[in-house]
Amino acid sequence: MEKLEVGRRIKKLREEIARLREAYHVENAPNVTDDMYDSLNRELKGLLEKHPEFNDINSGENRVAGKALDKFIKVQHKTRMLSLNDVFSEEELYDWETRIKKLINETKIKYFCEIKFDGLAVSLIYEKGKFVRGATRGDGFIGEDITENLKTIKSIPLQLRVPYPEYLEVRGEAIMSKKTLITLNKKNEREGKTLFANTRNAAAGSLRQLDPKLSAERQLDFFAYDIAEVKVVRQGLTTHSDKHKLLKSLGFKVDDHEAYCQNISEVISFIKKFEKIRSDFPYGTDGIVISVDDLKLQEILGVVGKAPRYMAAFKYPAEKATTIVKDIKVNVGRTGTLTPLAIFEPTLVAGSTVSKATLHNFDQIERLGLKIGDTVVIEKAGDVIPKVVEVLTRMRTGKEKKFKMPEKCPACGGKVEKKNTGAVQSSSSKGPRSSSLKALGQTISHRTLNSPENISVAFFCTNPKCPAKNERYLEHFVSVFEIYELGPKILRRFKDEGLITDAADIFTLTKEDIAPLERFGEKSAENIVKEIENKKKISLGRFLWALGILHVGEETARDLANTFGTLEKLMSSARQDLAEISKIENIGPAVSKSLFEFFKDKANLIFIDRLILNGVKIEKVEKKKGGKFTGLTFVLTGTLASMSRELAKEKIINLGGKVSGSVSKNTSYVVVGEEAGSKLTEAQKLGVKILDEAEFLKML
Ligand code: IVH
Repeated sequence: MEKLEVGRRIKKLREEIARLREAYHVENAPNVTDDMYDSLNRELKGLLEKHPEFNDINSGENRVAGKALDKFIKVQHKTRMLSLNDVFSEEELYDWETRIKKLINETKIKYFCEIKFDGLAVSLIYEKGKFVRGATRGDGFIGEDITENLKTIKSIPLQLRVPYPEYLEVRGEAIMSKKTLITLNKKNEREGKTLFANTRNAAAGSLRQLDPKLSAERQLDFFAYDIAEVKVVRQGLTTHSDKHKLLKSLGFKVDDHEAYCQNISEVISFIKKFEKIRSDFPYGTDGIVISVDDLKLQEILGVVGKAPRYMAAFKYPAEKATTIVKDIKVNVGRTGTLTPLAIFEPTLVAGSTVSKATLHNFDQIERLGLKIGDTVVIEKAGDVIPKVVEVLTRMRTGKEKKFKMPEKCPACGGKVEKKNTGAVQSSSSKGPRSSSLKALGQTISHRTLNSPENISVAFFCTNPKCPAKNERYLEHFVSVFEIYELGPKILRRFKDEGLITDAADIFTLTKEDIAPLERFGEKSAENIVKEIENKKKISLGRFLWALGILHVGEETARDLANTFGTLEKLMSSARQDLAEISKIENIGPAVSKSLFEFFKDKANLIFIDRLILNGVKIEKVEKKKGGKFTGLTFVLTGTLASMSRELAKEKIINLGGKVSGSVSKNTSYVVVGEEAGSKLTEAQKLGVKILDEAEFLKML
């Protein structure tokens, strides 16, 4: 073929492949065969190999091409990625309408309803019709550039259909179908890898792969649901429905389960209609998103804190079932905590069979009044882990047995100690979901007893060499480091084979160590070693979380990282200045005591040294230098009307300031919201400067 002809043929092939891809992945057209698609792709690939001058990185065939990255680059969102406020009942929906009606002079508001997917929010940017960048939500302001991974999702168009706008930022959900998740989990189970609890975790885990090839294997999907920015559209956009229409016409997959509603009563009908088919819906969903359809009204209503006033997320209630507790077993956790596990008569809840649930701690059994043999109510929200919420004491026969925590560790026979660990302050606004929720038409009393933060008495195995404890710790460690190739079975195997004795050894594994093991081979050894190498770099927050310090979970670890910036600074404070740590917002004496004990222990220090020696690189938190709040410490008290406490904290830190949980002589300002507490009195007593919300906003 002549060059000109080759060029033409390549163009035709690309067009036809793009058309078939769209028909199959966006429009779900069943008459597209894989064979035809593959065959056209083969021809295109062959031609491009011979004529590399026709390569185009934005073209469809490059969906699975990108190189593995060292780390994801941070990107600032032009428009903040918001969250949604939840409503749990018809009543709350009507309350929402009443609130917004007060703010706009409108008696009749029209709404747009759509599915709330349980995946991962992403932002996609198109310039001159080409997909140029995709990012995760991150903290809403700054996300991570995952363009290469997103390019592998076949329902994301790399080229928009004409006529396309000059510039477009699309928001939507990357998600794994339930079917793909089941297949993936089966495969992971066979290979001894970690299982994903739900479609959201699966999507997040898949998109956080540094190697796009691994991401591509996960077969994710993408549904577009909003436009953050568009320049320019011929006919203009006046409603949320218009946005959906435009998204569809540009080639995005937009779910068909949507409704334009004249009033809340129609909204409720839609919610009920979808609820009936939700369990058969191919993707994980957790509710319905309701938007005020008129974009002008949306603008007037605006945003409060992290969420728009003009949108609400109706959350479907958790599904419940009753079953009998056949036994209560005891597991040993990563810090040696003994955790009771209820074993049930298997029962079906929210579409899957449940046969056990963690009871978290001894206190929980006491609070529930649970005995072995009891009939209990279990609850499962979507595909989240089930929990016991209530004991049906009237069903008792008298044969139920009281549970006793064993005196010896069930795994190693070591001595068990009861410790008063002190209640830990909840470390985030993401606490247990609403404690009493009224579902559609029925009242559900929902006790949130399952929060592990509420532990005050815990039982521990005191044997530092307890094998179960060490195994759980290894599992925790690799999951925080996101080394997905190393699931529980593989870790156990490596331990049994003597390849590793603890988590620090993971980073010394070589291909030659693994390949000779039965059922491994060159390829999988290579994948494992490559992934470990890729995950050596870790943020300080995740590193602290990975250490498995008692009471230091993800959120607390992040707070510590943001405050101290480096491991050295945290360690020196933990050893000398506990008072300093206790002052940090959300961190109480239980955490500082636990940090003190952790960093006092030589074995832990040696472990950290070995991790670093073996190549783990801890990224320090880049503090904004020269921010206008540098050197200032703020204390927040009461509720702010214009933003959540989380956001206020974020803003202060972003400007270089510190946020402390208690007032002292060193506090620069106390920001006072509505219903301020004792911190205000304390500030007045110490003569610390007090700012009301308006003054604070001005400073910001
Ligand atoms: S609207 C204002 N529409 O829900 C920000 N969000 O709880 C919300 N989500 O982060 C955008 N399906 O990841 C919207 N149809 C949908 C959605 C949806 C899922 C997620 C999204 C967001 C979260 C907020």
